[in-house]
Amino acid sequence: MARHFLLNTGAKIPSVGLGTWQADPGVVGAAVYAAVKAGYRHIDCARVYGNEKEIGLALKKLFEEGVVKREDLFITSKLWNDHHAPEDVPEALNESLNDLQLDYLDLYLIHWPVRVKKGTNNNPENFVTPDLPATWGAMEKLHDAGKARAIGVSNFSSKKLGDLLAVARVPPAVDQVECHPCWQQTKLHNFCQSAGVHLSAYSPLGSPGTTWMNGNVLKEPVIISISEKLGKTPAQVALRWNIQMGHSVLPKSTNQERIKQNLDVHDWSFPDDVLAKFSEIKEARLLRGNFAVNPQSVYKTHEELWDGEI
Ligand code: A2P
Repeated sequence: MARHFLLNTGAKIPSVGLGTWQADPGVVGAAVYAAVKAGYRHIDCARVYGNEKEIGLALKKLFEEGVVKREDLFITSKLWNDHHAPEDVPEALNESLNDLQLDYLDLYLIHWPVRVKKGTNNNPENFVTPDLPATWGAMEKLHDAGKARAIGVSNFSSKKLGDLLAVARVPPAVDQVECHPCWQQTKLHNFCQSAGVHLSAYSPLGSPGTTWMNGNVLKEPVIISISEKLGKTPAQVALRWNIQMGHSVLPKSTNQERIKQNLDVHDWSFPDDVLAKFSEIKEARLLRGNFAVNPQSVYKTHEELWDGEI
């Protein structure tokens, strides 16, 4: 199985990237350093994670030590909700580039189809109706300027992605969403395949240990039985499922052993009868994006945020 997937820009996205959400300052730099040394070539960042400065220092060290060259890495970051105004989009990208100490990103994503007033948090009174075509126009300009070699979205339903594709001059290259065997995103997967948009999976292990999320992926009986049969860990089984579906995965770890384990998902695959077992998993979707759903938001229900896909 290829270690990359092809984007609609012609660029290759490595199939495994290091997730950095909930990777605290103080440990994230060491995790990035260890991951690249272990062979990762893809780091998934975001402005709102609050750790891009430390990631930038780790990248600088890796370049200075000659471990890897910039052009061999694939670095993603994301536009936060308070910078959707077209005039604010270049500023947000520049802040990420400055902190990451980079001249360009390989991929820049609209983090959520959600907008708040500049400089404010996600409290209900701060919500503003998003104008996704306008924000996308500013993303396209960053792409034209070469500062974001690919542009895309995150947490977009098939409907929102389809609406954007209908008005986009530069089609989104990626939709990054929560995806794992317990939330298989079948509708979005099919839509992305037909539209030539790459699906990238965040929280591919179900973010174990995060109480408000689905922590049960690694305890799911079907996954455990496959892992015992194949002599792999439940995490490797969960990651391999996404890769075999054609999705890149972004497992977060700050533990060196698990960082290595999560990359060891290429030289083996599920035979068809094992792959078929994943359809037996009872999906347990989450009400993702709780912060954006309330009577003062443009999304009054999860149904509206996810267009019925949750
Ligand atoms: P740690 O950083 O201590 O390794 P997700 O990517 O789905 O959000 O999951 C991230 C969580 O899963 C983190 O708590 C991480 O802890 C843990 N994790 C990462 N890799 C593995 C693994 N191979 N086995 C078990 N837990 C893992």
